[in-house]
Amino acid sequence: MSENRPRVLNMHKLLDPGPAVLAEAADIFQYPDGKPLTDENIAAAAEGCVGIVSMLMDPITEKVLSVPGLKCVSNVAVGYDNIDVAAATKHGVFVTNTPGILDETTADFAFALLMAAARRVVQGDNFVRGTHFKGWAIDMLLGVDVNHATLGLVGIGRIGRAVAKRARGFNMRVIYSDVNPLPAEMEREMGVTRVDLPRLLRESDFVSVHVPLTDKTHHLIGAEQLAIMKPTAVLVNTSRGPVIDEGALVEALKNHRLFAAGLDVYEKEPQVHPALVGLHNVVLAPHIASASTRTRSEMCAVAARNLVTAIRGGRPANMVNPEVAGGRR
Ligand code: DGY
Repeated sequence: MSENRPRVLNMHKLLDPGPAVLAEAADIFQYPDGKPLTDENIAAAAEGCVGIVSMLMDPITEKVLSVPGLKCVSNVAVGYDNIDVAAATKHGVFVTNTPGILDETTADFAFALLMAAARRVVQGDNFVRGTHFKGWAIDMLLGVDVNHATLGLVGIGRIGRAVAKRARGFNMRVIYSDVNPLPAEMEREMGVTRVDLPRLLRESDFVSVHVPLTDKTHHLIGAEQLAIMKPTAVLVNTSRGPVIDEGALVEALKNHRLFAAGLDVYEKEPQVHPALVGLHNVVLAPHIASASTRTRSEMCAVAARNLVTAIRGGRPANMVNPEVAGGRR
């Protein structure tokens, strides 16, 4: 550590080349492994730091954002619902994220969950490992067809559009709901049609959620919405857990009001609703939709570059709050 170099707080392990990129411009103070992730602890650890490299489990509240001298919080994720962006703006702190890098990787995984839930891949695996497979049977582990089915995308940002592209290969009809409609030409090119959410839920065989978590999308899919879905439908969530009312989803799955679900995210991560773990008609993943080596490394590199740019007095490429004029000095 040197007296004159800026200091940054790195909350969690970063993949290469993230640490080397950061080290070009700053001394790195590592948040102690296992220390509870409270805003109080994070604020204390950030004392004397000009930047923080955070991840989605770190509560970056006003307490953290008002640490004197803090210029930038660089989140290693496209989502930034863990950061109080309004407070950051108020305190002149840049907030950055990692958009555009993980779209295709996340879309691959959304499709993997969709396929696994529809065709009971995990149940089949458990069946074989449990030595229950005694021979072929006409009615063994029957699933629902993905090909030629209707896919409903709740949110058609970059990731939603990447999922839509994959659906074409399966001859699916794709409908979407979004507060921001796509330009008509793009809809035509992509072969997607905008409908309202109730219609999407009623007509879709597969519903895949791709909206950010905000006050408006919290519990966007609850008991009322699940009740109008087809009993043969599959629900997939790779966005943020609280977009779906997990208790209501458990009830729907238990009562076979839905065929199945594929979940990568949870309402109270890393806790998973205990009833979900006991259900066979849900595929559960530990928030790994963007977890390919290439994508996660690139996310670390971009987050580090964003922070280095801010430390050097520039405007980072991926600012969530561009309204912050010059950032705090
Ligand atoms: C994100 O980037 O927001 C994902 O949830 C983690 O890759």
